[in-house]
Amino acid sequence: MEYETPLFFRVMAYANEADRDVVDMVSGNPDWDPPAALREGLREYADLEPDAFQYPPSVGLRALREEIAARRGVDVEQVVITNGAGEANYLAMARALERDRGEEILLTDPVYPYYPGKTTMLGGRPAYVATDETGRLDPAAVREAASEDTAAIVVNSPNNPTGAVYPEKTIRELVTIAEAHDAILVSDEVYDHFDYAGAFSSALGIESNHRIVTNGFSKSMAITGLRVGYAVFPHHLVENARGRHMLVNVATTRPGQYAVLKALHETDPDYYERNRERLRERIDAFTEALEAAGAEYTRPEGSFYVMARFDGFPGTVENTFELIDEAGVAGMPGSGFGDSREDWLRFALVTPRVEEAADRLAGYLG
Ligand SMILES: Cc1ncc(COP(=O)(O)O)c(C=O)c1O
Repeated sequence: MEYETPLFFRVMAYANEADRDVVDMVSGNPDWDPPAALREGLREYADLEPDAFQYPPSVGLRALREEIAARRGVDVEQVVITNGAGEANYLAMARALERDRGEEILLTDPVYPYYPGKTTMLGGRPAYVATDETGRLDPAAVREAASEDTAAIVVNSPNNPTGAVYPEKTIRELVTIAEAHDAILVSDEVYDHFDYAGAFSSALGIESNHRIVTNGFSKSMAITGLRVGYAVFPHHLVENARGRHMLVNVATTRPGQYAVLKALHETDPDYYERNRERLRERIDAFTEALEAAGAEYTRPEGSFYVMARFDGFPGTVENTFELIDEAGVAGMPGSGFGDSREDWLRFALVTPRVEEAADRLAGYLG
């Protein structure tokens, strides 16, 4: 079996090699500061005793697990600290497939491309349920697609790439569908802090033995490079996940866990609100400029991506490269997120230059 290099690395490499100034809106790497306490935690760490430089418990530092468990209203035994939400998703999907209740993983279209990649890697079979044009998922469509062969339903709200935030009712119905088919709902909530209307609803709010929640600090604390995330499992599913995590990773970064814990203790809600405010401003500036350029676009309710469609210029890989060379703006081809958004491009609002980027797009395509 060959594993495909995610398209996103190809686009980033192309943008990096470009012979001109390029506004980089490819990746989900925040350009804003992590919490001050997180930086302090890392500084402090450098001077700790030698034992702090040795293996942490595989499942994660006890104090960090306790803090997460208290915040999320779950039992500490349910929490596994992972190498980002990415590993949390891998563990959750692997756990669903190894129950031998089916081989199919139901995903949405558009989809975060790592989900089909992991599904195939784990020997599962991806199947897709289309969202509506705003990115909302109709539970009736999921119910129709689900079968005896469904091992898991994997969803992400707030959503990358659509910006949709699923209402509580949707999450509740998805849990019910998972229960009815003896499957697992995997709810990836890594953008939970980027919820602009306060409409986000966590699957943890619904008691069930059929849901696994994944999350991480990459986005909320602007630390995609530190690799600290977690998964919350039902009690009866956690043991195997701990085993797999140990065999694959031994453990995840100890300094990262230490710094995240300090940041959780010492960061007040203002930090998160400032980040949301910055993004609200960027969403306004970018979409207003797209509007003026006559493009079609999405207005995210959550996460930090905008999808745009330009008449006669579909979001293919070739056109993405052309925009890098000719307009000096790098986005992601919509085709990377499934069939339904092939005409679209996705732009990550991780640069202060969003207005300039939209003007460049308008100048080239308008
Ligand atoms: C939907 C989604 N899940 C998971 C991840 C990976 O997050 P982490 O850095 O915590 O592994 C990302 C990163 O872009 C994402 O968009």
